[in-house]
Amino acid sequence: MLKTHDCGELRSDHIGEQVTLAGWVNRRRDHGGVTFIDLRDRSGIAQIVANPEISPEAHETAVEIRNEWVLQIEGVVRRRPEGMVNPDLPSGEIEVETQKIVVLNPAKTPPFAINEETEVDEMVRLKYRYLDLRRERMKGNLELRHKVIKYIRDFLSDRDFWEVETPILFKTTPEGARDYLVPSRVHPGEFFALPQSPQQLKQLLMVAGVERYFQIARCFRDEDQRGDRQPEFTQLDLEMSFVDREDVMALSEELFTTMVEKLLPERKLMHKPWPRLTYSEALERFGRDAPDIRFGLELKDVTDLAVESGFQVFEKVVEKGGEVRGLNVKGSGSFSRKEIEKLTAFVSQFGAKGLAYLALDEKGEHRSSFAKFFAEDRIKALLQRLEAEPGDLLLFVADKPAVVFESLGRLRVHLGERLGLLDPKILAFAWVIDFPFVGWNEDEKRWDPSHHLFTAPMPEDLSWVDSDPGKARGQQYDMVLNGLEVGGGSIRIHDRELQEKVFALIGLEPDVAQERFGHMLEAFEYGTPPHGGIAPGIDRLVRVFAGEDHIREVIAFPKNQAARDVMADAPSPAEPNQLKELHLRVVDEE
Ligand code: AMO
Ligand code: AMP
Repeated sequence: MLKTHDCGELRSDHIGEQVTLAGWVNRRRDHGGVTFIDLRDRSGIAQIVANPEISPEAHETAVEIRNEWVLQIEGVVRRRPEGMVNPDLPSGEIEVETQKIVVLNPAKTPPFAINEETEVDEMVRLKYRYLDLRRERMKGNLELRHKVIKYIRDFLSDRDFWEVETPILFKTTPEGARDYLVPSRVHPGEFFALPQSPQQLKQLLMVAGVERYFQIARCFRDEDQRGDRQPEFTQLDLEMSFVDREDVMALSEELFTTMVEKLLPERKLMHKPWPRLTYSEALERFGRDAPDIRFGLELKDVTDLAVESGFQVFEKVVEKGGEVRGLNVKGSGSFSRKEIEKLTAFVSQFGAKGLAYLALDEKGEHRSSFAKFFAEDRIKALLQRLEAEPGDLLLFVADKPAVVFESLGRLRVHLGERLGLLDPKILAFAWVIDFPFVGWNEDEKRWDPSHHLFTAPMPEDLSWVDSDPGKARGQQYDMVLNGLEVGGGSIRIHDRELQEKVFALIGLEPDVAQERFGHMLEAFEYGTPPHGGIAPGIDRLVRVFAGEDHIREVIAFPKNQAARDVMADAPSPAEPNQLKELHLRVVDEE
C-alpha cells in the first residue's frame, strides 16, 4: 500500500506515530510561512503542516500544489496547538507534520468545487461524474446504497435464499414498457431483448425447485423518463415457492423495517406493522394508489350533496356519472383569490376543469365560488362532511373519477409540501392490496393487466375473469414509501390453462403467446409449485433513505433525463462495418 493509515482514521491515539498518507488536496492555506493542506481520502480529512524549518523541500512542494492534486505524504502525528483544534472534524485534534511530499498526480482545476456543496448544473455534474462522486454528499449516497445492498444479502442469506444470476440477453419480458433490443451477429435479423425484469426467469427457478431466490437485478425499460425512472435500474428481485401473499409481505416488511432500524436510526418509522390499504381505499382517501400517508388532508366524497344543489357545474357532472370530491386545507382560509387561482392552474394540468372553493374566516363567515347556489342546510352538511372549522379552506373538483382522483391526489401532495406537512425524518411504509386484476384500455379496446401477465387473480374472483373481468381483483401487492411506489409483487399463475386464459383475455393471439411465452406454458406442465414474489426498487428506496429528490442522485453513473450517458456520450453511432456484421442498415426517419 502507498499509505499506512487513512486520513480520516487519525486520532489523538496516533500522536507521536510516523505515518504515510495518500489522497487528494481538499484545500491549501498559507499561514505565516507555514503551509497547511487538508488531505482527503474516502475516509475523511487530515490536516498536514508543511513547515520550511522542518523540511524545506516538503514546504517547497506544498506551495506548488493545487486543489485535487494527488499526494503521498510522510510525517509525524502531533497534537494541534492550543486554539487550533477543530471540533467539527473527527481528526480535528491532531495534525501531521510532514517531512516529505510526493506528487502522485497533479490535477487540472475541476469544473466545480469538490470541497463544498455548491449548486452545480446537473449536466456538468453528469459529464464529470467521477468528480461529482468525490463530493461528500454523493460519497454518502454511494456508501448508503452499498450498506442497503449488503443488508439485503445478509438478511436473505440468513433465511435460506440463494442469489442466482439470470441472463441479460434474453427474450421479451414485458412490464409495460418498450424493450431494449440487441441484434444478433450470428443469427441475422434476430434480436435479444434485455429483460424489463427477471420475472419469467425467477418463476422458472421456482419450477426448477430453487424455492427461495433473490437477485440484485438490473432491469431495462425503454420508457418516458419521469422523475423516478431510469432506463436501467436495480431491483431486489425475489421469489418464493409454497407461499401465499401474507408470507411475501411479512418477509419484505421484516427486511425493510429492520434495515431502517439498523441503518437509519435517526429516521422515524411511522408504522410498525405497516398499514394495509385496498386499492379503492387508497384512491378514496388519498387520490393515488401510492399514497403519502405521512399527513392527513384526505379526500372526502360529496357527490350526494352536489345532486340538485343548484350549482350547475356540479349537477351536470353528476348527471353524467361523475363525482364531486373535496379536501379540507386546515387553517388556510386566508388564501387569497390569486393563490386559489394558482391552485386551479395546478389541478388543470391533471385534467380538472376548475377548482371550486369555500374559504372560512376566523369568525366562520365564508367566501366561495359556489356557495351562493347552495341552500343553507346543504352548506351545513358540506361543512360537516369535511369537518370544517373557522379558518379552513375547502377545495372541490367535479369530474369523472379518474380526473377527480388524479387532480385532488396531486393537489393534496402539492399542498402538503407547501404547508410543511411532509416531515422528511419520517418513513411511512404502507401496503396497497386488492388491485383490479385488469383495466380496460379504451385506445386499444382490450384488457390490460394491472400488474403483469403472470399475476394470478384472487381465487374467489376466478369466475369474474370469465364473466366480468373488470370486477376481478389480482393477487398483487405494492409497497409504498412516502408516496412513492417502491415495490410490486404478486402471487403467480402456476397453471397452464389459467395462464392461457389470461393471455387470451388481454388479447394475445395463441400463436403469439406460444412464440413469446411458449417456454413458460410448457414449464407449467412439469410440476410447478405455487409461488409468488416481489421486486422492491433499490434506486427509489435508497433515494428516500438518502433524502434525495431523484434516483439519479443514488446511482453512480445514471442516464440524464433524455436517456443519455453524457459522460461517455452514449448512445452513439456504430461503425459501418459493425452495422454490416449485425445485418443492420440505419435509415433516416421520414
Ligand atoms: P414492477 O414493474 O412493479 O414489478 O417494478 C417493481 C419496482 O421497480 C421499480 N421500478 C423502477 N425504478 C426505477 N426506474 C424505473 N424505470 C423503474 N420501473 C420500476 C419500482 C417498482 O415498484 N417483475 C415485477 C415484480 C414482481 O412481480 O415480483 C416488476 O418488475 O420501485
Ligand atoms: P364557472 O361557473 O365556470 O365560472 O365556475 C365557477 C366555479 O366553479 C369556479 O371556482 C371554478 O373554478 C369552479 N369549477 C368549474 N368547473 C369545475 C369542476 N369541474 N370542478 C370543480 N370546480 C369547478
